[in-house]
Amino acid sequence: MENESFIRSLPKAELHVHIEGTLEPELMFALAARNDIALPFASVEDIRVAFRFSNLQSFLDIYYQGAQVLITEQDFYDMMMAYLERANADGVRRTEIFFDPQTHTERGIDFATFMNGFSSAIDDATTRWGLSVGLIMCFLRHLSPDDALATWHQSEPFRDQLLGIGLDSSEIGNPPELFSEPFRLAREAGLHVVAHAGEEGPPSFIAGAIDELHAERIDHGVRCEDDPALVERLAALQIPLTMCPLSNIKLKVFEDLSDHSLKRLLDQGVMVTINSDDPSYFGGYVLANYVAVAQALDLTRDDLITLARNSIEASFLDDAGKATLLAELATIAAA
Ligand code: HPA
Ligand code: ZN
Repeated sequence: MENESFIRSLPKAELHVHIEGTLEPELMFALAARNDIALPFASVEDIRVAFRFSNLQSFLDIYYQGAQVLITEQDFYDMMMAYLERANADGVRRTEIFFDPQTHTERGIDFATFMNGFSSAIDDATTRWGLSVGLIMCFLRHLSPDDALATWHQSEPFRDQLLGIGLDSSEIGNPPELFSEPFRLAREAGLHVVAHAGEEGPPSFIAGAIDELHAERIDHGVRCEDDPALVERLAALQIPLTMCPLSNIKLKVFEDLSDHSLKRLLDQGVMVTINSDDPSYFGGYVLANYVAVAQALDLTRDDLITLARNSIEASFLDDAGKATLLAELATIAAA
């Protein structure tokens, strides 16, 4: 498709992808066999059938179950490498990747096991493809703020491998301000901070993430539309929203892609970006998300260029890194 090769050619940043959500059924099966772990699925086809969700929680239950097959440093390397290879093929030049340490430490896996696996794969991908990669450690908001604090302290020896921290998992009933303390410590340590907000939760959670956690980007944020004053504020402050359209359809945040708020918010000057969230579970990596939205919302070539530019501007690359990608994008835009 014409759009697809054009979008692939645009230098892009991916800013919202959970590495545990990139675990493809085939690799899940291979790791289960390698580690002698029983899966409650008989086949890869069975897993794909189970990937039918009614809301965020129904997905999270299966997502946390899938992560149980990850045991060794090699497992974390293989999962990370598979994602980086795929992102590179989609024309991603910079990726800022979420991981959920508590999903692994809760099962007795050492911090060093996943951090070393991630870092080796990132080193190899950087050398091989010139990809630029950052890691964002997320706290699971269905666990307690004390658990998040303990995780923050546990991450100390690996601090220089972290770009930032984030907040994910079950949103309803778990407002952002509960996590003010670990977020304050992370900011004081010089890390970037982002938070999931307004995926299923109300617009007040978006405001809370900005005001109480000082989040620099909002992950999802699609429900800001319920509060026009908040939309104006997001546009005025140019606070990026890392949207994940295919995720929103799979988790029934919108019934149909044609209902999605992305284009309406783009037209109101909000800095929206397109990302994949949990591509293995939601049926598409970042390029597929761009292609689906371009078709459903009739995006123009200029819209697509704006979305790629937003992704670079909204990234935590330094100014020189952004300038390189923006110059390349400007050349394509002028062609
Ligand atoms: N929302 C909240 N938590 C998550 C998600 C999401 O879309 N994906 C992985 N963890
Ligand atoms: Zn997410």
